[in-house]
Amino acid sequence: MKATEGQSPVNRHDFANGAELAEALARTVADALATAIAARGQATLAVSGGSTPKRFFEALSQQPIDWEQVAITLIDERLVPADHERSNHRLANEHLLKDLAAKARFVPLYSDAADAEQAADVAAARIDGLGLPLDVAILGMGTDGHTASFFPHGSTLDLATDPACPHSVIAIEAPGAGEPRLTLTLPRIVEAGLLLLHIEGAEKQAVLEKALEQGPADEMPVRAVLRGASKPLEIYWAP
Ligand code: 6PG
Repeated sequence: MKATEGQSPVNRHDFANGAELAEALARTVADALATAIAARGQATLAVSGGSTPKRFFEALSQQPIDWEQVAITLIDERLVPADHERSNHRLANEHLLKDLAAKARFVPLYSDAADAEQAADVAAARIDGLGLPLDVAILGMGTDGHTASFFPHGSTLDLATDPACPHSVIAIEAPGAGEPRLTLTLPRIVEAGLLLLHIEGAEKQAVLEKALEQGPADEMPVRAVLRGASKPLEIYWAP
Protein backbone atom coordinates (compact mmCIF):
# COMPACT_ATOMS: atom_id res chain seq x y z
CA MET A 1 0.00 0.00 0.00
CA LYS A 2 1.55 3.33 -1.03
CA ALA A 3 1.65 5.83 1.79
CA THR A 4 0.92 9.49 1.06
CA GLU A 5 3.57 11.91 -0.21
CA GLY A 6 6.80 11.98 1.76
CA GLN A 7 6.27 8.65 3.44
CA SER A 8 7.99 5.31 3.05
CA PRO A 9 6.02 2.57 1.35
CA VAL A 10 4.28 0.07 3.60
CA ASN A 11 3.48 -3.57 2.96
CA ARG A 12 0.22 -4.82 4.51
CA HIS A 13 -0.09 -8.37 5.76
CA ASP A 14 -3.69 -8.94 6.89
CA PHE A 15 -4.88 -12.13 8.58
CA ALA A 16 -8.26 -13.63 9.46
CA ASN A 17 -7.42 -13.74 13.18
CA GLY A 18 -4.70 -13.20 15.74
CA ALA A 19 -3.70 -16.86 15.87
CA GLU A 20 -2.93 -17.01 12.16
CA LEU A 21 -1.08 -13.69 12.39
CA ALA A 22 1.00 -14.94 15.33
CA GLU A 23 2.14 -18.07 13.48
CA ALA A 24 2.96 -16.18 10.26
CA LEU A 25 4.80 -13.37 12.07
CA ALA A 26 6.76 -15.88 14.16
CA ARG A 27 7.91 -17.68 10.99
CA THR A 28 8.85 -14.39 9.30
CA VAL A 29 10.89 -13.23 12.29
CA ALA A 30 12.50 -16.65 12.75
CA ASP A 31 13.50 -16.71 9.08
CA ALA A 32 15.05 -13.24 9.34
CA LEU A 33 17.00 -14.22 12.47
CA ALA A 34 18.20 -17.47 10.85
CA THR A 35 19.37 -15.51 7.80
CA ALA A 36 21.34 -13.12 10.02
CA ILE A 37 22.90 -16.02 11.92
CA ALA A 38 23.91 -17.68 8.65
CA ALA A 39 25.50 -14.43 7.47
CA ARG A 40 27.15 -13.16 10.68
CA GLY A 41 26.95 -15.94 13.23
CA GLN A 42 24.55 -13.91 15.37
CA ALA A 43 21.24 -12.02 15.24
CA THR A 44 19.54 -9.22 17.17
CA LEU A 45 15.82 -8.72 17.81
CA ALA A 46 14.02 -5.85 19.56
CA VAL A 47 10.41 -6.42 20.60
CA SER A 48 7.69 -4.17 22.00
CA GLY A 49 5.65 -4.75 25.12
CA GLY A 50 1.96 -4.21 25.81
CA SER A 51 -0.82 -6.77 25.41
CA THR A 52 -0.79 -7.40 21.66
CA PRO A 53 2.47 -9.40 21.30
CA LYS A 54 1.68 -12.22 23.78
CA ARG A 55 0.36 -14.76 21.26
CA PHE A 56 3.13 -13.90 18.82
CA PHE A 57 5.76 -14.29 21.56
CA GLU A 58 4.43 -17.77 22.38
CA ALA A 59 4.62 -18.79 18.70
CA LEU A 60 8.12 -17.31 18.30
CA SER A 61 9.42 -19.14 21.38
CA GLN A 62 8.75 -22.43 19.60
CA GLN A 63 10.54 -21.62 16.35
CA PRO A 64 13.45 -24.03 15.66
CA ILE A 65 16.37 -21.67 15.11
CA ASP A 66 19.80 -21.40 16.77
CA TRP A 67 18.56 -19.27 19.66
CA GLU A 68 21.96 -19.37 21.40
CA GLN A 69 23.16 -16.95 18.70
CA VAL A 70 20.26 -14.53 19.21
CA ALA A 71 20.26 -11.42 21.44
CA ILE A 72 16.77 -10.17 22.32
CA THR A 73 16.14 -6.68 23.66
CA LEU A 74 13.24 -4.26 23.97
CA ILE A 75 12.02 -1.38 21.82
CA ASP A 76 11.05 0.34 25.06
CA GLU A 77 10.65 -0.29 28.76
CA ARG A 78 8.79 1.18 31.66
CA LEU A 79 11.23 2.31 34.37
CA VAL A 80 10.36 -0.57 36.70
CA PRO A 81 12.31 -3.68 37.76
CA ALA A 82 11.85 -6.99 35.94
CA ASP A 83 9.57 -8.41 38.65
CA HIS A 84 7.10 -5.51 38.34
CA GLU A 85 3.73 -6.31 36.75
CA ARG A 86 4.20 -3.50 34.20
CA SER A 87 7.69 -4.58 33.14
CA ASN A 88 8.17 -5.46 29.47
CA HIS A 89 11.14 -7.59 30.57
CA ARG A 90 8.70 -9.58 32.74
CA LEU A 91 6.34 -9.90 29.73
CA ALA A 92 9.19 -11.28 27.62
CA ASN A 93 10.22 -13.65 30.42
CA GLU A 94 6.68 -15.01 30.70
CA HIS A 95 5.84 -15.38 26.99
CA LEU A 96 8.99 -15.32 24.86
CA LEU A 97 12.11 -16.40 26.78
CA LYS A 98 10.82 -19.98 27.18
CA ASP A 99 10.73 -23.27 25.23
CA LEU A 100 13.30 -23.16 22.42
CA ALA A 101 13.81 -19.40 22.77
CA ALA A 102 14.91 -19.81 26.40
CA LYS A 103 18.45 -20.19 25.03
CA ALA A 104 18.47 -16.63 23.65
CA ARG A 105 20.43 -13.91 25.43
CA PHE A 106 18.17 -11.16 26.80
CA VAL A 107 19.50 -7.61 27.05
CA PRO A 108 17.26 -5.51 29.33
CA LEU A 109 16.85 -1.75 29.07
CA TYR A 110 16.05 -1.26 32.76
CA SER A 111 18.76 -0.83 35.40
CA ASP A 112 18.45 0.58 38.92
CA ALA A 113 20.48 3.66 38.05
CA ALA A 114 20.09 6.84 40.06
CA ASP A 115 17.54 8.34 37.67
CA ALA A 116 15.87 7.80 34.28
CA GLU A 117 18.54 9.69 32.35
CA GLN A 118 21.34 7.60 33.84
CA ALA A 119 19.34 4.44 33.21
CA ALA A 120 19.00 5.55 29.57
CA ASP A 121 22.77 5.98 29.30
CA VAL A 122 23.31 2.46 30.69
CA ALA A 123 20.72 1.06 28.28
CA ALA A 124 22.26 2.91 25.33
CA ALA A 125 25.64 1.35 26.06
CA ARG A 126 23.99 -2.08 26.13
CA ILE A 127 22.26 -1.47 22.78
CA ASP A 128 25.40 -0.07 21.16
CA GLY A 129 27.26 -3.13 22.41
CA LEU A 130 24.90 -5.44 20.49
CA GLY A 131 26.33 -4.42 17.16
CA LEU A 132 24.03 -2.26 15.03
CA PRO A 133 21.83 -2.13 13.06
CA LEU A 134 19.34 -4.43 14.70
CA ASP A 135 18.30 -7.31 12.46
CA VAL A 136 14.62 -7.23 13.43
CA ALA A 137 12.56 -4.54 15.19
CA ILE A 138 8.90 -5.12 16.01
CA LEU A 139 6.72 -2.15 16.92
CA GLY A 140 3.28 -1.93 18.41
CA MET A 141 1.01 1.10 18.36
CA GLY A 142 -1.35 2.68 20.84
CA THR A 143 -4.74 4.11 19.92
CA ASP A 144 -3.24 7.56 20.50
CA GLY A 145 -0.82 6.93 17.64
CA HIS A 146 2.24 6.33 19.81
CA THR A 147 4.78 3.67 19.01
CA ALA A 148 7.77 2.58 21.08
CA SER A 149 7.57 5.19 23.84
CA PHE A 150 7.11 8.02 21.35
CA PHE A 151 4.05 9.40 23.11
CA PRO A 152 2.23 12.60 22.12
CA HIS A 153 3.50 15.48 24.32
CA GLY A 154 6.44 13.34 25.43
CA SER A 155 9.12 15.26 27.36
CA THR A 156 11.86 14.29 24.88
CA LEU A 157 9.73 13.41 21.85
CA ASP A 158 11.57 15.75 19.47
CA LEU A 159 14.95 14.23 20.36
CA ALA A 160 13.61 10.65 20.40
CA THR A 161 12.18 11.03 16.88
CA ASP A 162 15.06 13.05 15.44
CA PRO A 163 16.44 11.05 12.48
CA ALA A 164 19.90 12.26 13.54
CA CYS A 165 19.49 11.56 17.26
CA PRO A 166 23.00 10.72 18.58
CA HIS A 167 21.64 8.51 21.33
CA SER A 168 20.42 4.91 20.97
CA VAL A 169 18.18 5.08 24.05
CA ILE A 170 16.67 8.07 25.84
CA ALA A 171 14.35 8.61 28.78
CA ILE A 172 10.92 10.08 28.14
CA GLU A 173 7.86 10.95 30.21
CA ALA A 174 4.40 11.71 28.88
CA PRO A 175 0.78 12.01 29.98
CA GLY A 176 -0.77 8.55 29.77
CA ALA A 177 2.56 6.72 29.66
CA GLY A 178 2.62 5.93 33.37
CA GLU A 179 6.15 5.64 34.75
CA PRO A 180 9.08 7.28 33.03
CA ARG A 181 10.04 5.23 29.96
CA LEU A 182 13.26 4.19 28.26
CA THR A 183 12.91 4.01 24.48
CA LEU A 184 15.04 3.16 21.50
CA THR A 185 15.32 6.26 19.35
CA LEU A 186 14.08 6.65 15.80
CA PRO A 187 17.44 5.96 14.08
CA ARG A 188 17.89 2.65 15.91
CA ILE A 189 14.37 1.57 14.94
CA VAL A 190 14.20 2.58 11.27
CA GLU A 191 17.67 1.24 10.44
CA ALA A 192 16.68 -2.31 11.44
CA GLY A 193 17.09 -4.89 8.70
CA LEU A 194 13.44 -5.93 9.04
CA LEU A 195 11.01 -3.36 10.50
CA LEU A 196 7.57 -4.61 11.50
CA LEU A 197 4.44 -3.07 12.99
CA HIS A 198 2.08 -5.51 14.73
CA ILE A 199 -1.39 -4.17 15.45
CA GLU A 200 -4.75 -5.85 15.96
CA GLY A 201 -8.36 -4.69 15.92
CA ALA A 202 -10.53 -2.28 13.95
CA GLU A 203 -9.74 0.70 16.17
CA LYS A 204 -6.00 0.46 15.58
CA GLN A 205 -6.57 -0.04 11.86
CA ALA A 206 -8.46 3.25 11.82
CA VAL A 207 -5.69 4.95 13.81
CA LEU A 208 -3.13 3.67 11.30
CA GLU A 209 -5.15 4.95 8.35
CA LYS A 210 -5.23 8.38 10.00
CA ALA A 211 -1.51 8.22 10.73
CA LEU A 212 -0.84 7.50 7.05
CA GLU A 213 -2.48 10.81 6.13
CA GLN A 214 -0.70 14.15 6.16
CA GLY A 215 -0.46 15.75 9.59
CA PRO A 216 1.92 16.66 12.41
CA ALA A 217 4.13 13.80 13.55
CA ASP A 218 4.04 15.00 17.16
CA GLU A 219 0.26 14.47 17.25
CA MET A 220 0.66 10.85 16.07
CA PRO A 221 4.32 9.94 16.68
CA VAL A 222 4.03 6.66 14.74
CA ARG A 223 4.21 9.05 11.76
CA ALA A 224 7.90 9.58 12.53
CA VAL A 225 8.46 5.89 11.74
CA LEU A 226 6.11 5.89 8.74
CA ARG A 227 8.06 8.82 7.29
CA GLY A 228 11.54 7.93 8.47
CA ALA A 229 11.78 4.28 7.48
CA SER A 230 14.48 3.68 4.89
CA LYS A 231 12.77 0.47 3.76
CA PRO A 232 9.15 -0.63 3.56
CA LEU A 233 7.41 -1.02 6.92
CA GLU A 234 5.84 -4.49 7.12
CA ILE A 235 2.45 -4.10 8.79
CA TYR A 236 0.84 -7.19 10.34
CA TRP A 237 -2.85 -6.81 11.16
CA ALA A 238 -5.74 -9.01 12.25
CA PRO A 239 -9.28 -8.05 13.34
C1 6PG B 1 4.70 -0.56 25.74
C2 6PG B 1 4.87 -0.81 24.28
C3 6PG B 1 3.99 0.14 23.52
C4 6PG B 1 2.91 -0.74 22.91
C5 6PG B 1 1.67 0.03 22.61
C6 6PG B 1 0.53 -0.92 22.25
O1 6PG B 1 5.69 -0.56 26.49
O2 6PG B 1 3.52 -0.41 26.13
O3 6PG B 1 6.12 -0.87 23.85
O4 6PG B 1 4.57 0.92 22.54
O5 6PG B 1 3.42 -1.35 21.73
O6 6PG B 1 1.32 0.77 23.76
O7 6PG B 1 0.22 -1.66 23.40
P1 6PG B 1 -0.96 -2.77 23.39
O8 6PG B 1 -0.43 -3.91 22.57
O9 6PG B 1 -1.15 -3.13 24.82
O10 6PG B 1 -2.16 -2.11 22.75
